[in-house]
Amino acid sequence: MTAKIISGTETAKAIREELKQEVDQLREKHNVVPGLVTILVGEDPASQSYVTAKTKTAKALGIHSEQVTLPAETSEQELLAIVDKYNNDVKINGILVQLPLPKHINEGKVLFAINPDKDVDGFHPVNVGKMMLGEQCFLPCTPHGILELLQRSGTETSGAEVVILGRSNIVGKPIANLMLQKRKAGNATVTICHTRTKDMAFHTRRADIIIAAVGVPKMVTADMIKEGAVVIDVGVNRIGMTSEGKAILAGDVDFESVKEKAAAITPVPGGVGPMTITMLMKNTVQAAKQAAGLI
Ligand SMILES: NC(=O)c1ccc[n+]([C@@H]2O[C@H](COP(=O)([O-])OP(=O)(O)OC[C@H]3O[C@@H](n4cnc5c(N)ncnc54)[C@H](OP(=O)(O)O)[C@@H]3O)[C@@H](O)[C@H]2O)c1
Repeated sequence: MTAKIISGTETAKAIREELKQEVDQLREKHNVVPGLVTILVGEDPASQSYVTAKTKTAKALGIHSEQVTLPAETSEQELLAIVDKYNNDVKINGILVQLPLPKHINEGKVLFAINPDKDVDGFHPVNVGKMMLGEQCFLPCTPHGILELLQRSGTETSGAEVVILGRSNIVGKPIANLMLQKRKAGNATVTICHTRTKDMAFHTRRADIIIAAVGVPKMVTADMIKEGAVVIDVGVNRIGMTSEGKAILAGDVDFESVKEKAAAITPVPGGVGPMTITMLMKNTVQAAKQAAGLI
């Protein structure tokens, strides 16, 4: 069996077309222009490229977009003051502080300072709590993107054995929680593996759906999956450079071997990555509609 490729690029394109229409309608019918600010502290090249991609995508959709780039020495107080300024800026509906922050800044304190109504990354404890309870909130972008990929690719999750590799606050834990819930792309039986898991392959071999988010290149190999599994590869690992200085990326899944055994698989790049940015745009449009009293 050669797996069907679940293309994040294609799915994200379709969602962006829907969003562009929604943004056009908001502007024409309600005089509402969604606004997003991205705040980057320091010069990490990966973070810089993520922020640039977010700003570019926002602009392409007609979202008002501002980008704040701060030196690595920026103090916590200075950053908190900037977040507060955007909390009070009516042109801005979504505030994204690019993580990771330099070590001298308390990440939790900064995320907590964002107005939960503008927390389009879905990391504020209020939104995390609402998500846990299954209430309306901003869903964190990567798990949200995974749900959309599963749903739009027609993957049955109800009653499925789902094995998630990784327990981070931004991917593993929230996707586990969401897939457990009584909701679309949910109702699964969920297992989470991490570095203390005794026999990871024991779990992955019985999984109908595997979601790999560990940050270890090509860790999931064909012998670890059952025939016909659906494999979602969240990992983005830089494993080298091309002669033109472009990063060579690998996922957490050994794509070449696993695609011969899986029913469906997401590639890296072109899988979960484009969905994450798109879900940020979706959350920003949702924030603008909420602020305008339209939902
Ligand atoms: N495509 C996207 O949009 C997107 C978004 C976010 C992240 N990512 C990528 O997804 C990957 C994971 O990101 P993250 O932020 O969730 O990472 P993270 O915070 O570093 O968490 C990694 C998790 O994987 C577990 N783990 C690491 N090595 C393992 C091993 N050998 N065996 C079993 N478990 C292991 C860790 O276990 P412990 O808890 O026991 O340490 C931890 O729970 C990275 O490659 C990242 O770049 C992609």
